[in-house]
Amino acid sequence: MLVILKVVHITAAAIWLGHKILIPRDLRASIPVGGDTAARAVQRVDFAERLGQATGLLTLVSGVALIVAVGGFGAVSEWIYAGAALVVLSFMIGGLVARPAWAATKSLLATGQVTATAEPIRRLSSVLVIESALWVLALATMFL
Ligand code: HEM
Repeated sequence: MLVILKVVHITAAAIWLGHKILIPRDLRASIPVGGDTAARAVQRVDFAERLGQATGLLTLVSGVALIVAVGGFGAVSEWIYAGAALVVLSFMIGGLVARPAWAATKSLLATGQVTATAEPIRRLSSVLVIESALWVLALATMFL
């Protein structure tokens, strides 16, 4: 059971990081082109966003299940809680900065203001870098 939980946990965490790595490059290459190319990029990022939410949540839930499986809240290193806090911080940054930046990009696109999307795309890209850095820090806490 513990092995299965760890496999689920690590797979979810890997997809959670992986889903966002190509987003900035994709947006910078596809959105300025406009038309169908931009529309397809929007679909890809919408899907990536859903995948990221599901795998982020699964990382957290499987992490809590692992805590229970290895003996309860007192049985794990306190660093695990630092990792959990980094994950929650990442969720908050995602909800407060990345989501609005993506929503702004889409609404600018919908009104044909393609050039103006550069700013929210830059904001979104920066947040994704910060989220990835938090992910790496959270990974490190798993081994302390
Ligand atoms: C970016 C987020 C995360 C990553 C990349 C990650 C990665 C990992 C990895 C690779 C392991 C295996 C470590 C080992 O077997 O030595 C692990 C174990 C574990 N993780 Fe995470 N994790 C993350 C988030 C979380 C969160 C949010 C929690 C708790 C809510 C959590 C709780 C645990 C627990 C309890 C273990 C088992 C520790 C043990 O065997 O003593 N993880 N995690």
